[in-house]
Amino acid sequence: MPNLHIIEGDITLATVDAIVNAADPMLLGGGGVDGAIHQAAGPTLLSECLKIKAVRKIRCPVGEARITAAGNLASRYVIHTVGPKYHREEQPQKLLAAAYRQSLSLALENNCQSIAFPAISCGAYGYPIREAAEVAIQTCLADEFKNIDILFYLYGQKNYSIWQSVLDKKNR
Ligand code: APR
Repeated sequence: MPNLHIIEGDITLATVDAIVNAADPMLLGGGGVDGAIHQAAGPTLLSECLKIKAVRKIRCPVGEARITAAGNLASRYVIHTVGPKYHREEQPQKLLAAAYRQSLSLALENNCQSIAFPAISCGAYGYPIREAAEVAIQTCLADEFKNIDILFYLYGQKNYSIWQSVLDKKNR
């Protein structure tokens, strides 16, 4: 039974152990999926983020992940990760892969059996969706993550069908 699934819809409705947030390094909330998750989780999510130690205002460097409680969301945790700004990084694919990998490692360390990802970096951070899908799916197919159910939540039919076509190609 494959453990990768693709869903078109709002990640804040995901019924999983951990919902992944595409955050910014200060973890103060923002727009896009970050805004939607904070909105749905309620103000306690920001309080949780503020408990995370900041080093020169950075709570989560690019490619890393931090875990908090999930406020009003149905999940047990929110895993905040920061993807690369596509046009700012020499090797954005390495940092994007790290964001997925670090999020999955944190989920496993916290005994999560399921995790939902948005298309990290594919909005404000400008990552081309097909390239991002290749990196995300390749990273999540690693053997070490075979025991966690991974759900990719895509916003909009176009993003969904691109992600699905990349997964179909990998499954051939
Ligand atoms: N559910 C699922 N996916 C969503 C949702 C939602 N409710 N809202 C937006 N998305 C999708 C976007 O359509 C995009 O494909 O999430 C993907 C990631 O886009 P962004 O949210 O813009 O995230 P990112 O590109 O990683 O930029 C992060 O934006 O909001 C700020 O604080 C955030 O500075 C950070 C930056």
